[in-house]
Amino acid sequence: MQNEFVEARKSEFEELKQYIDTVKNSQGILMQTLQKAQDIFGYLPLEVQQFISDETNIPLADIYGVVTFYTQFTVEEKGKHKIGVCLGTACYVKGSQEIMDKLSEELNIKVGATTDDKMFTLEATRCLGCCGLAPVMIIDEDVYPKMEAKSVPEILKKYSN
Ligand code: FES
Repeated sequence: MQNEFVEARKSEFEELKQYIDTVKNSQGILMQTLQKAQDIFGYLPLEVQQFISDETNIPLADIYGVVTFYTQFTVEEKGKHKIGVCLGTACYVKGSQEIMDKLSEELNIKVGATTDDKMFTLEATRCLGCCGLAPVMIIDEDVYPKMEAKSVPEILKKYSN
C-alpha cells in the first residue's frame, strides 16, 4: 500500500525527482539534494530520506546520519511562522527567558516544538549579532528589538491569521 504522505505529496516528490535527475551524475550531491528536498517539503521526514536513498543509491543510514548531524536540516515539520528568541548572554541578562516563557505559555508549547495547528514553531537562538537591541525576538524575517514579554500576545495576533 502506498504511504499516505507519499500519496499526498506526489507533486513535491516529482519535483525532487526532477532535481535529482539533473544532479545524479555529479560528485557529492547529498548535501545539495537534502537542501533542495528541505526547500520543497519544509522538512525531511523518513519518507523523503528513503526516496533520496532509492533515487541516488546512497544508503539510508548515511542520509540519516547527515540529516541528524547538521542543524540546518530538520526531520520535524515546522510551523508556518518560526519564532526565535535570542538566549545569548546580552539578551538573557535583559530578560529574554521571560519572553520565551511568555511565548511558551501563550502558544502552549515547549521550546523546540510546533503548535498543533502548525502555525508556530518556537526556538531558542544563539547571539544574533545585534546585542545593542537586546532582548531580541525574531518572527520569520521580522526583528523585534528591546522586546518585552507583555507585548507577546499582541504580536502573536498579527501572525495568527
Ligand atoms: S545576545 Fe542576543 S543578539 Fe547578541
